[in-house]
Amino acid sequence: MTSGGFLVRKGQDASRDPLELVHLEHLMMREVLDAIDRLVLEPNGRSSEAVLSLYGYLREEFLSHHRDEDEELFPLLRKRAEAEDRIDEILDRLEADHAIGDGQIHRVLGILKTLVESDAPLLDEDFETLRFFAASERRQLVVENAIVLPIARARLTKADLAKIYKEMLARRGLDRVMNTETT
Ligand SMILES: [Fe+2]
Ligand SMILES: [Fe+2]
Repeated sequence: MTSGGFLVRKGQDASRDPLELVHLEHLMMREVLDAIDRLVLEPNGRSSEAVLSLYGYLREEFLSHHRDEDEELFPLLRKRAEAEDRIDEILDRLEADHAIGDGQIHRVLGILKTLVESDAPLLDEDFETLRFFAASERRQLVVENAIVLPIARARLTKADLAKIYKEMLARRGLDRVMNTETT
């Protein structure tokens, strides 16, 4: 679980499709959120390895994923969408939710780190932070999968997709590696 969509794809068919990469990231994120839910429901049943895996994924991918969307995908989608898509309001809300998540992620990582490093029970406010975080992120995933990605698939041009893909790789320092592998 510690790898993002990019690494999952490594060695597989490299279609350079950024929307598929975003979708893969969403699948990984859903696993992470399910694991956070389990942690909240049964904090005593936790294994350090499982918590460490969550910690690693969130630390490596969470902010990058939001930036992929806020800085690459959403602006291009705003540009290409038709009025009938009514996408602006949806993207406004998602950007606001991203900002809330970005503000919470260090707190969430801190809670997970404490869980790995000690047997101390979680505080009520920690449970509340994890619950709020997971619920908010899950809502965003539903909207992005059901509305944003299908519209992006229909509206973005090949050049748009290539640009997003390039920026996503560069953000993770994978641009040189992947270009060598796929050319
Ligand atoms: Fe998002
Ligand atoms: Fe997303």
